Amino acid sequence: MGAGTTAGATSRLAVVPLLLLPLLLARGAEAVSLWRPPPEAGLLGSAPGRFLTQEEHWMSQTLDHFSPTDHRQFKQRYYEFLDYHRAPNGPVFLNICGEASCTGISNNYLAVMAKKFGAALVSPEHRYYGKSSPFEDLTTENLRFLSSKQALSDLAVFRQYYQETLNAKYNRSGVDNSWFVFGGSYSGALSAWFRLKFPHLTCGSLASSGVVLAVYNFTDFDKQIGESAGPECKEALQEVTRLVDGQLQSGHNSVKELFGAKLVRK
Ligand SMILES: *[C@@H]1O[C@H](CO)[C@@H](O)[C@H](O)[C@H]1NC(C)=O
Ligand SMILES: *[C@@H]1O[C@H](CO)[C@@H](O)[C@H](O)[C@H]1NC(C)=O
Repeated sequence: MGAGTTAGATSRLAVVPLLLLPLLLARGAEAVSLWRPPPEAGLLGSAPGRFLTQEEHWMSQTLDHFSPTDHRQFKQRYYEFLDYHRAPNGPVFLNICGEASCTGISNNYLAVMAKKFGAALVSPEHRYYGKSSPFEDLTTENLRFLSSKQALSDLAVFRQYYQETLNAKYNRSGVDNSWFVFGGSYSGALSAWFRLKFPHLTCGSLASSGVVLAVYNFTDFDKQIGESAGPECKEALQEVTRLVDGQLQSGHNSVKELFGAKLVRK
């Protein structure tokens, strides 16, 4: 599946609010009040700052799931919330964090459902985001392990690791709870793909706005943004895009520096 293109579409989605912010700031305080910060934990999130837990846990993750010789590991961050868990056999809800820093388990609709079904809530951070980066320097060479394929295997390894942790907690072994995975947008695609690729590791998956269909040069996406923004805002967006594209193509680093994207060699 064309994960690269899909990720491109979603990262473009994430860039839009970033571009809108300076734009709206420039238009005065009235417009600023219309702007809402994006949810902290992906598109399934709720109001920021409202978490069930933000206590960090760590597991050792395999850097390259497809090499027989490369055994390097990195630290992957995750969160757990067990207050609602009907011990020991209640289900486990895995909320997949996507292409952003994952800072906790949000108190959103998933929490309501976890309470209703006596589920444990767990959420691992996506490799290369937040504190789960295998490398300090994001050089092209170091970025080659960033793919949805590797991320899916991360989820499978996490699922097995956490099941064993849970079994140890409940003093038992060889038992499987029922696992259900959730995600939205890019992580919605991961959610659907995880269910397809590892049907034995889940009993189901929910994919909200899952971007599973890769479309080359997907201009309809921008067209919809333009329609939603309205003619005046659309024109401003296009101008900003033109300016940024021009800067990037000119080889100047000023725009990259603005977004902390300039590679600093030590
Ligand atoms: C765990 O289970 C074993 C075997 O059933 C038992 O001997 C042991 O006392 C249990 N430990 C705890 C902490 O419950
Ligand atoms: C993308 O599609 C638009 C509209 O159909 C077209 O004008 C443009 O040339 C295409 N770009 C590429 C790189 O294919």
